Amino acid sequence: MTRAGSHGNGRPSRRARPAGGLGNLSGADTPQRSARVRRKIPVSHDSEPQPVTAHPGGPLNGALKPPGDKSISHRAMILGLLAIGETRVEGLLEGDDVLRTAAAAKALGAQITREGEGRWRIIGVGIGGMQDPADVLDFGNAGTGSRLMMGVVGGQPVTATFDGDASLRKRPMRRILDPILKMGAQVVSEAEGGRVPLTLKGPREAIPIRYELPVASAQIKSAVLLAGLNAPGTTTVIEKAASRDHTERMLRLFGAEVSVTPSGEGGHGRTVTLTGQPTLRGTDVIVPADPSSAAFPLVAALIVPGSEVTLRGVMMNPLRTGLITTLIEMGADIERLDEREEGGETVADLRVRASRLKGVDVPAERAPSMIDEYPILAVAAAFADGTTRMNGLHELRVKESDRLAAVAAGLAANGVTYAIEGDDLIVTGNGGAPAGGGTVATHLDHRIAMAFLVMGLAAGQPVTVDDGAMIATSFPSFRPTMLALGARIEDGAAA
Ligand code: S3P
Repeated sequence: MTRAGSHGNGRPSRRARPAGGLGNLSGADTPQRSARVRRKIPVSHDSEPQPVTAHPGGPLNGALKPPGDKSISHRAMILGLLAIGETRVEGLLEGDDVLRTAAAAKALGAQITREGEGRWRIIGVGIGGMQDPADVLDFGNAGTGSRLMMGVVGGQPVTATFDGDASLRKRPMRRILDPILKMGAQVVSEAEGGRVPLTLKGPREAIPIRYELPVASAQIKSAVLLAGLNAPGTTTVIEKAASRDHTERMLRLFGAEVSVTPSGEGGHGRTVTLTGQPTLRGTDVIVPADPSSAAFPLVAALIVPGSEVTLRGVMMNPLRTGLITTLIEMGADIERLDEREEGGETVADLRVRASRLKGVDVPAERAPSMIDEYPILAVAAAFADGTTRMNGLHELRVKESDRLAAVAAGLAANGVTYAIEGDDLIVTGNGGAPAGGGTVATHLDHRIAMAFLVMGLAAGQPVTVDDGAMIATSFPSFRPTMLALGARIEDGAAA
């Protein structure tokens, strides 16, 4: 195991902070702005747990724009780093995860300035132009940032050490290392089982490969494509089930040649081919609202009686809308209004009214288009009439926590009937509010925390989550947003 950034007690040391310090991220920013950026970073692995409780109450009403999409925000930082010239981003998610990726991009040579809320400017170094970072790249809780950046480093002549918090240190990285080792990268050192902290040394030029993904994962697909940017030839990724396509879309936006053709059984899969060594040019990126964050106020509006909430500008990329499809099948009153194009994606306003939900069967093929939404779907299912069967959830076991186990424990703590059969989760509701009154262990997982706080807004008794700190990784404004709709969410355990 590498010694970089480790005390040997399983906790990253102070050295395992983003190189250059996050305060420097804003470059020419005013000191006040820099301080603001710094304050947004919760020091996840060092801080005390912060219990939070959601109380049942009256209807939720109002309109809101959910934060910028996390997947697109990470990619904007990464392609901004790899492009020549200036990239301007609007609507960037300023959550901890993305700020970690920004700090890593800066440590690898990009100049990054925060120009206002959600507005960032990146001056890239071009493919092949990165520098060795002076310090460990600490990705905190960010699986996507770390894995995509491993693809970047794994294809280019730089050496970097990756680390993160206790959650990231448990997550499998072998799935990324396998293809990038074939492309010429070397692992200098790694924690047991191919986990972080690990040090990666990229080749002068990557070897172009044809790679069939072992699991449907946009992160693996993206890592291979990003490594393939420095390969003299075409890199092909074959996926059996289509996963989110933000990397392909954004690579094209920056000037790369990427072809995507349907493949596999029933045309559900995709073959993605990238022509290597393009010149990526800095460009403007508009980040639409994140459907995975919108999911929390959306389900809250469905389950709190009498609610009506409008979510503005939510991305409707069909590879991300599995939850909305499922909720509509369950009887949810969700209207898609004013569909329009924004920054190369279809967005819509969603008008959501409290609804009587019924149990449904969610096919395994739908999982890639709603992979992050199962915790909140399980909460919706707890309020539905009948049984909801969520099939094929094996990938949930390797998210920020073992989400299948964490969701099951949260349901059990709040009196919900459920079963796990293999990789399937089965939740049975009686059409009314579950008991609630439980305390849920979040295991450093932001989506577990938000899902069960939403449950507490409509359960029989308040619901407490043991730690709300990680919510800042993806939805820093979650609490003020929910409070503005009329929710009651307070610090501390239930009295
Ligand atoms: C993401 C891909 C998904 C998802 C994650 C974001 C991405 O992970 O769970 O939150 O931005 O590529 P997998 O690719 O591992 O399914």
